Amino acid sequence: MILVTGAAGGPQGSTGRAVAGHLLERGEAVRAFVHADDHRAEELRKLGAEVVVGDLREISSVRPAVRGVSRAFFTYPVTAGLLDATGAFAAAAREEGVARVVEVSQLDASPDALTPRMRRHWVAEQVFDWAGVGAVHLRAAVFFENLAAVAAAAGDRRELALPLGSRDTLIPLVAAADVARVAAGLLLDPGPAEPVCLVTGQMATVGEAADAMGVAYVDLPPEEWEARAMEIYRDPYTVEHLTHLWAIFRLIGAGHHPLYGVTESIERIGGRPPTTLREFVLSR
Ligand SMILES: NC(=O)c1ccc[n+]([C@@H]2O[C@H](COP(=O)([O-])OP(=O)(O)OC[C@H]3O[C@@H](n4cnc5c(N)ncnc54)[C@H](OP(=O)(O)O)[C@@H]3O)[C@@H](O)[C@H]2O)c1
Repeated sequence: MILVTGAAGGPQGSTGRAVAGHLLERGEAVRAFVHADDHRAEELRKLGAEVVVGDLREISSVRPAVRGVSRAFFTYPVTAGLLDATGAFAAAAREEGVARVVEVSQLDASPDALTPRMRRHWVAEQVFDWAGVGAVHLRAAVFFENLAAVAAAAGDRRELALPLGSRDTLIPLVAAADVARVAAGLLLDPGPAEPVCLVTGQMATVGEAADAMGVAYVDLPPEEWEARAMEIYRDPYTVEHLTHLWAIFRLIGAGHHPLYGVTESIERIGGRPPTTLREFVLSR
């Protein structure tokens, strides 16, 4: 039995939904952990998943969900509560003797990272490591969905308005679907796995990204970004993270960073070359 959290999918990447889909297609027994018993849960049941409903931050939800599980996919959206959810999940997985937890982290998860969320991801990685549950941390680049949400919010203006300075500012990107493919590959592979897996599918300048999306890049002054972001996300935690994230990319600009570069993990573990932003846009 493989437990998949975030299985209903959501606005940020729907990684859990895609992982559940891959595993069910392969005929695996999947327990889908969802936050609400709605039409998305119903669809998972129709596909053959056992659905459990609960709150990942709540040990009384997580403990029974982990029972009888040998492998698990863990994801928690960019909002408050990551460390509560991680603590509950790691404790329950340790108690159950889970052999592998594949969890979604961020490209620069480190104690010195420049966004609070990335620093929390690093703490979450440590907690999973201490739990001894065969954790694999998927350190993923910015999801294409993230840029798509900003462009969608501009509506008829057909623009990608971000506080990134010049058109030449680089962004490490990835399709959330490719992150899910790598996760499914790791969950299905009985062999050993490295604890950290970097997942970047494309390096693009913000100008190139806007071109691929068929919109105009607009360099938004950082102070205007925060107000606009609150309208888009309506969550101060999300806005805080993204504001710091864009500031980092703006600072690096067209320069080099050791984490910049397409990774081989997508093709090697996910089984096909990385999706490009253009392909992602055309598929929607
Ligand atoms: N966005 C990016 O550019 C990016 C880049 C790199 C890494 N990441 C990482 O990717 C992760 C998010 O991706 P995602 O694909 O999982 O996001 P998502 O598509 O927004 O899905 C989140 C899922 O978690 C569920 N959920 C939310 N709160 C919950 C709770 N308290 N208990 C149980 N379930 C809960 C949601 O259910 P409901 O919809 O029913 O609430 C939803 O199904 C984060 O860890 C983020 O740091 C994101």
